Amino acid sequence: MKIFTFKSGPPLTPFAPQWDYSLGYENISNLIDCPKIANLILSKEKFIIRKFPVMKRGSIDGYTALGPNSLTSRYWYYNLIDWPEIEIKTLRSTIVEFHQKFLKKLNIKIFNTISIRGWANVMRKGEKIQPHLHNVKPDAYLSGHVTIQCEDTATFYINPVNQLNEPEVKKIKNVPGQIALFPSCVPHYTDTHSAATERITIAFDISLKM
Ligand SMILES: [Fe+2]
Repeated sequence: MKIFTFKSGPPLTPFAPQWDYSLGYENISNLIDCPKIANLILSKEKFIIRKFPVMKRGSIDGYTALGPNSLTSRYWYYNLIDWPEIEIKTLRSTIVEFHQKFLKKLNIKIFNTISIRGWANVMRKGEKIQPHLHNVKPDAYLSGHVTIQCEDTATFYINPVNQLNEPEVKKIKNVPGQIALFPSCVPHYTDTHSAATERITIAFDISLKM
């Protein structure tokens, strides 16, 4: 697992900002079946879009700007992580294991009682995900992505404290089968997907059962 940390230097004044946000990422393509998961998502995409209305909570598409016809704009209505297919069950247990490994690496007490909500993003030529974040409320925990299918794109993570004039940004190249975990308050975006095949990712939020 690779870890990247946005970390402030020791504060020299009582008002100097402090931050410490770690991202973890690793290739898990040997553990999950990306081609089968890609087919599964594409086979359900139209059905999900037809079945559920455009969201009316805050933003229609989670501030990604993928628009009202995107699968992303239905993310609130279903939990991909609960799909019954064996490939998704394996994906779920792989996420759980990666989460435990991530906490161990950061010397954080392991929480066993988590729940995971996931959805799929299918992007076509010319599309990109605009900067957005998942949770800044007191229960904010971790979010993640698993790249299922991609060609020459990257995800960019912004330091939550330093995101205006000269933002501190960490670029992580998208690789099929790569999982990334990051604090839910870290804003992120992608560059433009330019390939003819779909760019497919699974995004998820982990929350602690309190
Ligand atoms: Fe996101």
